[in-house]
Parts: sequence; structure tokens; C-alpha cells
Amino acid sequence: MRPGIAQTCSKMGKYFLIVYALASVIYTAHYFYTTYDRTSTSEKPLSAFAHVEPQNRHVQQEHLRGFSSNVNWASGQDVVQSVSEDFILSKVFSDAMGPSNVMSYYYKASSSFEQEDITMSTLVTRNRFMVLSRLASHYKGPISAAIHVNDDETKELVLQELEEMVATNPDVRKFVDIHLILDNFDRQFNMWRNVAKLFARTDYVMMLDVDFHLCTDFRQRIRTNPEIMDKLRSGRAAFVVPAFEFTVQDDGLNSTTFPASKEALIKEVDSGKLDMFHKSWLRGHGSTNYARWYPSQEIYQVDTYDFSYEPYIIYKKNGTPWCDERFIGYGANKAACLYEIYLSGVDYWVLPEDFLIHQTHKYLEEARRKERQYNRKLYSNFREEICLRYSRMFYSSGEWDTDRASNLKGECEKIRGFRSTMHASTL
Ligand SMILES: *[C@@H]1O[C@H](CO)[C@@H](O)[C@H](O)[C@H]1NC(C)=O
Repeated sequence: MRPGIAQTCSKMGKYFLIVYALASVIYTAHYFYTTYDRTSTSEKPLSAFAHVEPQNRHVQQEHLRGFSSNVNWASGQDVVQSVSEDFILSKVFSDAMGPSNVMSYYYKASSSFEQEDITMSTLVTRNRFMVLSRLASHYKGPISAAIHVNDDETKELVLQELEEMVATNPDVRKFVDIHLILDNFDRQFNMWRNVAKLFARTDYVMMLDVDFHLCTDFRQRIRTNPEIMDKLRSGRAAFVVPAFEFTVQDDGLNSTTFPASKEALIKEVDSGKLDMFHKSWLRGHGSTNYARWYPSQEIYQVDTYDFSYEPYIIYKKNGTPWCDERFIGYGANKAACLYEIYLSGVDYWVLPEDFLIHQTHKYLEEARRKERQYNRKLYSNFREEICLRYSRMFYSSGEWDTDRASNLKGECEKIRGFRSTMHASTL
């Protein structure tokens, strides 16, 4: 293990830096926003966004961008060092392609949220603005949306569409924090996921695809259930909301026609109208174990985890792994997030009464096949790396013989050579 300790330390140092940077960014944002008049603070005016300055008085949200381009590293009351925000963000997202212009709270929700609430953490592209708007009106709770906009000649139009969407729905202004990612790197889904999680304002987040309709009120059910809340607080459990889709795509166009109770859902499943999400790719959601779910009235633990499992989960924001930003494009990106979360010692539990239904839309298929092939290769190496890295971490932290390492042990022993490598290096 010797040669790796420095590496482990640097990794831990990196996580510490990220957390510290986040705290500093938020603190500074708050400080500048509350201390200075906006017009006098734009030392570095983001001229490209001048047209979305809130001249439109009907847009009530706070615009925090342009507040400062520096983050102050403080010791007590003293500013020790002033570092540019761009520089810090380049470190925060150093595994992604860059540079990116990340503007947190480009639109900030006017509501304040309870710490123990659940934020819908999601990615939105231009063609989904209305889907986000509907989600805001339906959920009426905290939403953290990462919106990627290409930094090209379409930018102005897209930002205008975004502003219109915000302006026309009071629920968006009330509940949705919008974080803008401006660059020319398409489909950096995991980086975008991390942006949405990073700036979420509550202790718990749900990693959600915005296309899914939240059919039941799991937010209320979770928050009033002490057993579930205790598990969430521990940071050692994530809750799966099972996902469904209509067998005839056109049935999935209008969410007001979707079942709103498990009983109604099961009727439609029995009649063949609805089925588990992506039945043709069983490994994606099969571990949820739908056959067990239908009659279930209690939460139950996922006991046949598969590395392709990619359920929609509610979990603790703090202390859980981030999504690996080296995954770009379709295939394996979400599964990689869930793999690392699982190996880090988070167990997956399935909620018995709640479910999501996919809202139909047209996919763009061209880019997908090549990217999937590329990511399959990357994912296979990634799993090996994660197994070794977390094994080392559990050894060093004295947790190898605890329950926390059991997900890792079960999963990593499937990797060829893992056992012998670990055996050799721990002697
Ligand atoms: C969705 O269905 C509801 C109820 O049947 C109907 O009132 C509404 O107009 C529909 N919406 C759309 C967009 O078709």
C-alpha cells in the first residue's frame, strides 16, 4: 500500500479543497450580494449577459452573477488570500473538460428551504425548459437545475427562452435555483449533475431525470417517517423511487392522465399499459426488483445490485461521492455515479408506495452508439479503479472490517485479479 498513501492523501486533500471551495464560494456570494450594490460590484462585467440583467421587473428572482470574480480565503476575520472564482471552479471541475463558465444561482429561487427538505437535482437542456417549468409547478419544493448552454451564436436566443420560461411561471421563480454552465462541451452529464448537487440548498437531494413525472408525494412521506429520515441522516442509505414507462409511447405525453396511487398504477401494469422503465435493458432497473415491489408495503433493501443499475435515488448531499466527470456523453455516466455511491458504503432501499413515470419525448439517436461504446470501455476501467481506491481508503481509515466495506467486498471480488492484488498489498 505504501506508494499509494501520497495519492490517497492528495485525493482526500482534493475533496477537502472542494468542500472548502464550495463553502467559500457560497460565503462570498452571500457576502457580496448582501454587502454591495449590484451596479458597483461588477468589477468584471459579464457583458455577454447584459441583456438578461433584470430590466424586466416581472422577473423577481435575484440575479447573483456578476457579484464578484474573487473568493477570499479567510483566517478568522483576516483575508489571507484572494483567489479568482474561475480559478477555483477550474479546480472544482478539474476532471471535466474545460474551461467552463459556471454561473451558480443565475436565477435564484425566492423561497427559503428547510434544511432537511429534499431538493430535486436535475439537468436541463434547451428542449426541456417547459418540462422543468411543469416540474416546478408540480413539486412545489426545492429544485436545483444545471442548465448547459452552448457558448456560440445560439446563446442569446437560448438565454432569452430561459428568461421567458422563468418569467412566465411564478413557481419557477419561487422554487428553482438555476445554475448556468456556459461552454462548448456537450453532454458532460456528470459534471452537470455535480453542479446541480453542489449548489443544492438542502441536506438531501434526488438525482432526477427531468423527464420523469413525480406521481406520488414521496417528499412528505419520507419527511414524516422517522425510520427513513434516520437512515438518510446517517448518510449510509439512499432511497430508490421505482420508475415506470408506458408501453405505448403516446400514452406518456400528458402527465395529468398518469396514475397517482400504487393501486391505480398496478391496475395499469396488469392491463399491460405500463411497465418497469427500460424493460429491454433489465440491468438498468432490474435490481429494484419489481416483482417484490408490487406486493410490498415496507421499505426493502436492494440485494441483487448490478453495476449497470441506475435508479433514481434520494440521498444525503454531504459526504456522498460525486459523479465522476470523466464520463462524457451517453452510456454508463449515471451508473458510474451509483456505483461509486454504492461502493462507498451507501445501501439502496426501495420505497414501497412511490413511483415515477417517464414522460415521452423523441430521442436524438445519432451520437449515442459511439459514445456508449467508448463509455463501456471507460466504465470497465473505472470500476477497477474505484474498487482499488476505496479498498485502500477503507484500509487506511480502519473501516475495512466494518459493515461499510461490505458493498465493496461483494462487488469488487467479481473483478479479475482484485482479490490477489488486495491480498498481496495488505500483507
Ligand atoms: C391533459 O389531459 C387533461 C385531462 O384529460 C386535459 O384537460 C388537458 O388538456 C391535457 N393536456 C394536454 C396538453 O393535452
